[in-house]
Amino acid sequence: MNVIETERLLLEPLESSRLEDFVALTANPDTMRYWSPEGPFTREVAEQNFAASLIRLQEYDFGRRWLVAKESGAGLGFTDTKYFGQSCEDVSSDEIEIGWMLSPDAWGHGFATEAARAIRDEAFDRLKLESIVAVHHPANRASGRIMDKLGMTFERDVVTRSGWPFRLYRLTRDELDLARINPA
Ligand SMILES: CC(C)(COP(=O)(O)OP(=O)(O)OC[C@H]1O[C@@H](n2cnc3c(N)ncnc32)[C@H](O)[C@@H]1OP(=O)(O)O)[C@@H](O)C(=O)NCCC(=O)NCCS
Repeated sequence: MNVIETERLLLEPLESSRLEDFVALTANPDTMRYWSPEGPFTREVAEQNFAASLIRLQEYDFGRRWLVAKESGAGLGFTDTKYFGQSCEDVSSDEIEIGWMLSPDAWGHGFATEAARAIRDEAFDRLKLESIVAVHHPANRASGRIMDKLGMTFERDVVTRSGWPFRLYRLTRDELDLARINPA
């Protein structure tokens, strides 16, 4: 998988050297508030999740990317592009989902939006997908705003198997040109 470069960021394919950063990021109650009903990951869960994402990257040639600020070289968090999997009964496991998580000290600078646009474009340009989805907890307004800014449209409310509510957004290839021309 290639490195994606944007104006201020490098989106690097996840490497094993990022494990400690991932453990720290997902142990933080602020980053995990709307990510999982179980709250922050234990070290064991974080390690399992990290290992699974490395395997997916090898298997599919798309997946988790670590965000690096070009100016400082600092790691800021990650994006993910993945099969939706089994988490919601009423969402096909074959849907491809995009997502993002940044360290709180990097919030509020538009980095998440910049990275999200890059993986949106990768999904259609390199991966040749016809449609992508993203989900956010109803209270996670920042993440919903990013979906709006990507040109995604709210489709429906869904519920995870553990009873956690999500708002599901979608963007199709037909809507992409408009989304690129008119960024929110
Ligand atoms: C979601 C997350 C990546 C957003 O990061 P961020 O740094 O605020 O993102 P950006 O700077 O790109 O801004 C996103 C937009 O949301 C808006 N926003 C930020 N916080 C907001 C809030 N609490 N309510 C409403 N809008 C908000 C910003 O103003 C911006 O919109 P604008 O450009 O129109 O002003 C960050 O909060 C995070 O990592 N959260 C933890 C992990 C997570 O929940 N991921 C998403 C799971 S669905």
